[in-house]
Amino acid sequence: MGREIARVVFDEHTIARRVAELGSEIAGHYDGEDLLVIGVLKGSFIFVADLVRTISMPHKVDFLVAASYGTAKVSSGTVRLLYDPETQLGGKHILLVEDIVDSGNTLNHVFGLMRRRHPKSLEACTLLHKRKAPDLEVEPRFIGFDAPHAFLVGYGLDHAEDFRHLPYIATIEE
Ligand code: IMP
Ligand code: MG
Repeated sequence: MGREIARVVFDEHTIARRVAELGSEIAGHYDGEDLLVIGVLKGSFIFVADLVRTISMPHKVDFLVAASYGTAKVSSGTVRLLYDPETQLGGKHILLVEDIVDSGNTLNHVFGLMRRRHPKSLEACTLLHKRKAPDLEVEPRFIGFDAPHAFLVGYGLDHAEDFRHLPYIATIEE
């Protein structure tokens, strides 16, 4: 069972630089509009915290909890909503924030749920994109990095709830 860090893929400074660029892009895109950022927990918690501080316009922040992985390193294909945002979504521009798009299953599912609440617009921002999701219904409009097809941990990403606290993104030993 792999529990050791194998290789750092994105270091702290590389992440911070890219997150700031995404924040500027997002502020430019939504300038003057009513924006609600919704982080998809738990994996996005560090990314959201860093990202919203680089979006230099007033906006609101909420979270939802979607669970699709157990302790396995492959997608289980099922997505459960364990916490639903309490904020009113109708008429607002919604930006879903994900840590990583792998199979695209989570994003597809959450997009479907959010669309039913009639937001003014619905887009996604993901820090990492493995670009191997043929059935992705909507491409994230804001993407941090293309990710290698390896299991990644750190900066919010976990393996069996470990490694989330690491300030960098890394692979683990198989
Ligand atoms: P998807 O539904 O297969 O696109 O996977 C989405 C969720 O699975 C992400 O939000 C992560 O929580 C988790 N996930 C996917 N790939 C990885 C990985 O490489 N490391 C850690 N978690 C991952
Ligand atoms: Mg996870």
